[in-house]
Order: sequence, then structure tokens, then C-alpha cells
Amino acid sequence: MKKRKNKKNYYTFGNFILIIVLIVLCVIIFKPFNSSTNEEKEDIKKKEKILTEEEKKLQTLNNIDKKLDFFKMENLDRYIAYKEKHNDLDDETIVVYVNIGLDQDFYTNVKDAPNKDTNKVITNKFYFLGSNYVPSDMVVINSKYTIGERKMQKDAANAFEEMVKDALEEGYTVKAASTYRSYTYQEGLYNKYKANDGEEKADTYSARPGYSEHQTGLAVDVSNGKTSYTDFGNTKEFNWMKENAYKYGFILRYTKETEFITGYMNEPWHYRYVGKDIANYIHNHPMTYEEYFVRFLDK
Ligand code: DAL
Ligand code: ZN
Repeated sequence: MKKRKNKKNYYTFGNFILIIVLIVLCVIIFKPFNSSTNEEKEDIKKKEKILTEEEKKLQTLNNIDKKLDFFKMENLDRYIAYKEKHNDLDDETIVVYVNIGLDQDFYTNVKDAPNKDTNKVITNKFYFLGSNYVPSDMVVINSKYTIGERKMQKDAANAFEEMVKDALEEGYTVKAASTYRSYTYQEGLYNKYKANDGEEKADTYSARPGYSEHQTGLAVDVSNGKTSYTDFGNTKEFNWMKENAYKYGFILRYTKETEFITGYMNEPWHYRYVGKDIANYIHNHPMTYEEYFVRFLDK
């Protein structure tokens, strides 16, 4: 009996030594993986915290960043702030509106207009053309289709002539009442409006100098040649333009419904040449040029 007890003690002691050896081995093997200094540990903790906050914000937007190729991580905080103020809007609309700049007041955070000297240029209360910009390649439009001598950028002028020729053949008279306007001309206009109506009112119907689509040579104000261009919305020619302008590459730029995006009141007379592809897309998916720009061109 005594002998058997000694043997049992011997095995227990052996197991104990084995466990100690295993523990020591584990400590030796795994130490390098766990050898960061306190400073490094702090860093890791900080990074983990930043990531978590960003992730939380993205979750607030239902991870819309994964679905939209125009999502801008640098606008994340602005998206969140906009969502807090406009909780009726879906996440995609929030991204579109913030990318346009609608979370900021008009004319407060302006940038140089992209795509100058192309049909894709955008100018609005967020993008300026500047005082020196003059489009290259302008031509005089056939006087049969204008009131006074009017110039436009060549592609736009050709498309305009083709459009109004077809309109005329169908019995509709559409004439260019105002097309290209230089910076200086727009400056005179805007200052006159401001003197008459005050800045706030003038801003609802006139672009400030350097910000007008008319300075691109791609915009045209039309009339039916009988009444003022400001009455164009009440003419049968307006209905013809609503149905047909896109086929020639023109879009109606400023409507009542989109005033909060463009910053301009309804202008049934103001058309912008963007080319047939874009005009066709916008005809099939109604949206402002601002929305089209942030969705497809602002990459
Ligand atoms: N009336 C338009 C907005 C302009 O002045 O360009
Ligand atoms: Zn106009």
C-alpha cells in the first residue's frame, strides 16, 4: 500500500512539473505578440476608437457609402448634420444635396467651375466662372431665329438653330432673346437689379457676375417673338419646348420645384445646352443639372 501511494505522488508531481514547463513555454512563445509598449497600446486604442466613431456615423447613414460611388468620406460630418436637420430625406438624397452644397448658404463656399469650355460645365451659386472667362468657339446664330444679334458656343448654336427650325416647321416660333452675356454685361444687369429690388430679391432671378450660365455661351432665354420672354411659360411654344428641347440637347434649367436647389425662381424661358446624351438622361430621370453633376460628373 505504501509503495503504491509513493508512485501516485510521483506521477502527480510529474504532471505538475509538466504544466509548469508548458506555461513557461507559452509565455516564451506568445510574449513577442504581446510586447507592445504602453504608448503603442494607447495608439491602438485611439485608432480603434476613431474607427468605431466613423463606423457609427456610417451606420447612421445606413452604410450608404457602400452603395454610392459619389459618396465623399470628407463630407461625412456634413451628411450627419444634414440628416439631423432633414430626417424626412432618404440617405441617398442627403448625400446628393450635401455634395451639391445645399447644407451651406448660397455664395458662401464657392469653387472654380469644373469642365469649363465643355458642354458639361456647371456654374451656379457654388461654382464660379470668374471675371476672365470667355468661351472659345462662339458663333453668331442665324438672325432668323433671334431677337437682335445673338452668339452662342458653336455646338449649342447649331443645336438651337436645328431645334427652332423644326419648331417653326410644326408651327411654333421660338426665338433667342438672350444668349451669351459677358462678365461685364452680367455685372451691369445684376447691379441694376440690385439697385431696383435689393440684393436678396435680385439673387432670386439674376446670377451675380461670374456665376451666370449665360457667360458659358450655352444658355438661351427664348420668347415666341410676340410677347416678352417672361411670358414664355404661358405660350404654346413652351409646351413644345417641354416635349422637344431634350431631343436637341437642351434642358429647362430653373423650375419652381427646384428653386431650393438652384437658388433661382421659375424661368420657363431659360434653357441650357448640355448635349443630347445628358439631356436625354435628364428627360428620362427628371433632376436638376446640379443633381446630375454630383451623381455622374463630380468624381
Ligand atoms: N437669370 C439667370 C439665373 C442668370 O442671370 O443667369
Ligand atoms: Zn437665362
